[in-house]
Amino acid sequence: SQQCHILGIETSCDDTGVAIVNSDGKILGESLFSQQELHLEFGGIIPPLARDMHEQNMEQATYIALEKSGLSLDEVDAIAVTNRPGLSLSLLVGLKHAKQLALKGHKPLIPIHHMEAHAFTIRMVEKVDFPFLVLLISGGHSLLAVAQDVGRFKLLGSTLDDAPGEAFDKIARRLKLRNLRRFDGMSGGAALESAAAEGDPLAFPIAEPLLQNRDCNFSFAGVKNSSRLFIMKEEEKFGVNGDEVLPNLSDMCASVQFAITKHLCRRVLRAFAYVESTGLVDNDRKRFVVSGGVACNTFIGRALRVLGTHNGYSVSIPPRHLCTDNGVMIAWNGIEKWKVNQEIHQVDSLELIDIN
Ligand code: KG4
Ligand code: ZN
Repeated sequence: SQQCHILGIETSCDDTGVAIVNSDGKILGESLFSQQELHLEFGGIIPPLARDMHEQNMEQATYIALEKSGLSLDEVDAIAVTNRPGLSLSLLVGLKHAKQLALKGHKPLIPIHHMEAHAFTIRMVEKVDFPFLVLLISGGHSLLAVAQDVGRFKLLGSTLDDAPGEAFDKIARRLKLRNLRRFDGMSGGAALESAAAEGDPLAFPIAEPLLQNRDCNFSFAGVKNSSRLFIMKEEEKFGVNGDEVLPNLSDMCASVQFAITKHLCRRVLRAFAYVESTGLVDNDRKRFVVSGGVACNTFIGRALRVLGTHNGYSVSIPPRHLCTDNGVMIAWNGIEKWKVNQEIHQVDSLELIDIN
């Protein structure tokens, strides 16, 4: 089939990402403006602030991505943009910009579901046919689903409270990891993983959530609360206060990471049993994909690979820079939709296609 080029725009959370990808999965140009530093400062995302930052960076992000690709807007076949789910103030910035580009360049617009984009990124770099089981773990989401086709998913479970990345971020903050220079510029999850490297995962017995539930849902609030209690007790024991961190920081981090990993593995094991018994996957070609920011975690990745392989699955995790939010995954999802002629909208006003 004919080569096509799609420009993708991502603004659902705190990253302003733009990329141009072609139908072979080649990244022609990309740019990413992260707000992580700002939000780490405030201990979370403040939506109006996130919106303002997106607005500041949006045009430049597109300019840089196009510049790097060597293409003009005219040579792009369509504009793909995240329109759900996410922070509405943030989504609207990308969507408005996408509509303006579409109008200006007379290009069709392809609305993208952020989680579908996370799930399909692997298909840009590896041959992973439908159907496949997918675990998406990030700062905002936690879900297990079967990807059946472009635009077609069967949701098996999601989180009842926090997302795993959120738990990592909050616990990292409670542990004051930000105060250590060696974690400069890292997300809470990445800092916690790094601190956990030398620790004993069995040092603190953080209870595994939902052990009695026979479904594929997640819960991370318990891990967060249980960790907080252990941290308080240890801080008291060692007389840690102010900006100081625990002397046994690595043991605490290793235990938190272990508790989260165990929970993820147990839920995935339930999903394996479910999809195999219901015929949702092809039992001769079982495929398991893990993506989202938390999939960057090497400990979690290794555990899930072992679990999958042991149960007869070929396990795929995209390279790190494709796991986290970016414009590339949106552009690639646009390509996937383009190839099957799905959701290609002609734009003749700024009103068409809203967030939902
Ligand atoms: O997918 P993502 O970039 O944004 C969304 O939330 O959609 O994921 C960001 C999340 C953050 O919560 C961050 O702490 C977490 O991914 N994360 C990690 C690691 N690297 C990033 N969590 C655990 N271990 C890591 N190495
Ligand atoms: Zn994401």
